[in-house]
Formats: sequence, structure tokens, C-alpha cells
Amino acid sequence: MTALLRAEGVSRVLPGPQPVTLVRDIDFALGAGEFVAVTGPSGSGKSSLLYLLGLLDRPTAGRVAIEGRDTAGMSDDELAGLRLARLGFVFQFHFLLPEFTTLDNLLIPMRRLGRWGETEREERARALLASLGMAEAADKLPEQLSGGMRQRAAIARALANDPALLLADEPTGNLDTRNARIVFDIFERLVVEQGRSVVVVTHDQEQAARAPRQVRLVDGRIVHDSGA
Ligand SMILES: Nc1ncnc2c1ncn2[C@@H]1O[C@H](COP(=O)(O)OP(=O)(O)O)[C@@H](O)[C@H]1O
Ligand SMILES: [Mg+2]
Repeated sequence: MTALLRAEGVSRVLPGPQPVTLVRDIDFALGAGEFVAVTGPSGSGKSSLLYLLGLLDRPTAGRVAIEGRDTAGMSDDELAGLRLARLGFVFQFHFLLPEFTTLDNLLIPMRRLGRWGETEREERARALLASLGMAEAADKLPEQLSGGMRQRAAIARALANDPALLLADEPTGNLDTRNARIVFDIFERLVVEQGRSVVVVTHDQEQAARAPRQVRLVDGRIVHDSGA
């Protein structure tokens, strides 16, 4: 089987007089339709790992392949193209562009990808927002939305180009329990109903437990992977 994502022997060392190892010897394969929670102490390398899996950073050893394509030899532009087309990212902060409406925040990556014409883009973006219970947010600015709605708008933007894999780094870190649950409800639907894969880094043990596969990092190493 070709994994959706495969990391082999991945390490990332920050160079310098005293090199810092962010993650080491990571072997991790992810199939389509998998939902993985990554947990571990603060500073254990969770964000570093997510950036490597998401092609936002390059390993200093080992390799990451997406859908069977080794990314090691790719240029920065090729990596950016692959991220834009196949991956979606959600962070603790929503990073919506404040001067644009929610709809426009979704349309920006869609225009960059160029897969659909403008009419279809807008239809798809509005349908996506509606599917997340956010239809009425489309024409509002981020500042007019609640914190929970802003994070859901950020999730909608991450899904705008129909990615195979969603990567989320502490997406509920700024949310109350109810909104955290709504975010994980969405992740569950993406996996169960749409066959996407989700990798979520979280401190929230209650929500993390909902993911069928659990990965634990300590000191930059995977010390437990229930799906390996
Ligand atoms: N740019 C950097 N310079 C020096 N140390 C860093 C840098 N980025 C991360 N680190 C260190 O690498 C380790 C892993 O960081 P990180 O991946 O952010 O962990 P986590 O997300 O699990 O809290 C931490 O000890 C952190 O302090
Ligand atoms: Mg982190």
C-alpha cells in the first residue's frame, strides 16, 4: 500500500555551536482516513514534527514522502505547490487575514491553486462554510466572529482546496470546552464521512482520546504509536 504520508528516519537538527535536536529517528506512516492525536510534554518536538510532516520544514536526515513521492529533492516552490494542493494547516491562532471577509479568506488559497473558476470557487467556499455551520459568517470580517467561529473559519480555509490531509497544531488551545468539542467533531467528520486524514497535536486529553490512533513524543522521539 502506498501511504498517504511516510516519514523514514526523520531527524531535524538546528545547526550552530551547540546544535539542537528537535526530533530524531522518526518513522511514521499514515494511511488515508486515519485520525491521529499527537501528545507529549511541552518542548518534546510536537510542533517540529508537524512542520516536517507538513513540508513546512525539511529534515536534516531521513525523508518524507507524500502519496509515494519523495519530497527530499523538491524545490521550495514544488513543496509549496504540494502543500497548497494536498495539505491543510490549522494552528492555535487562526491567522485569518483581518481585512478580508471569511469568504475571501477561503478564496485566496483557492485562487492561488487555480483549480476552479471564480464562480465555482465561491460556490464551493460558501458550501464548505455552510457544511461547518458557518454560512452566516461568509460575508463577515474575522473581528465580527466569536473565537470559536474564527477557528472554524480557519478550518474551512484549510479545507478550501480539498486536501487529503489536515495537520493541526494545538487547534483548541484558545478555545473553551464546548468549542474544542466542536472542532474535534469536525475532525471526526472529515475522517469518517470524507475519508480525509487528520493529524492533530493537542494537550487536551479528553479530545485526544477520540482519535483512534495515539502517538506520544518525548524528547523528540516517538515513544508510543498505537497504530505502528
Ligand atoms: N528555533 C529554535 N531554536 C532553538 N530551539 C528551538 C527552536 N525551535 C524549537 N526549539 C526547541 O526544540 C524543542 C522542540 O520544540 P517544539 O517542536 O516547539 O515542541 P512542542 O511543540 O512539543 O512544545 C524544544 O525544546 C524547543 O525549545
Ligand atoms: Mg508546539
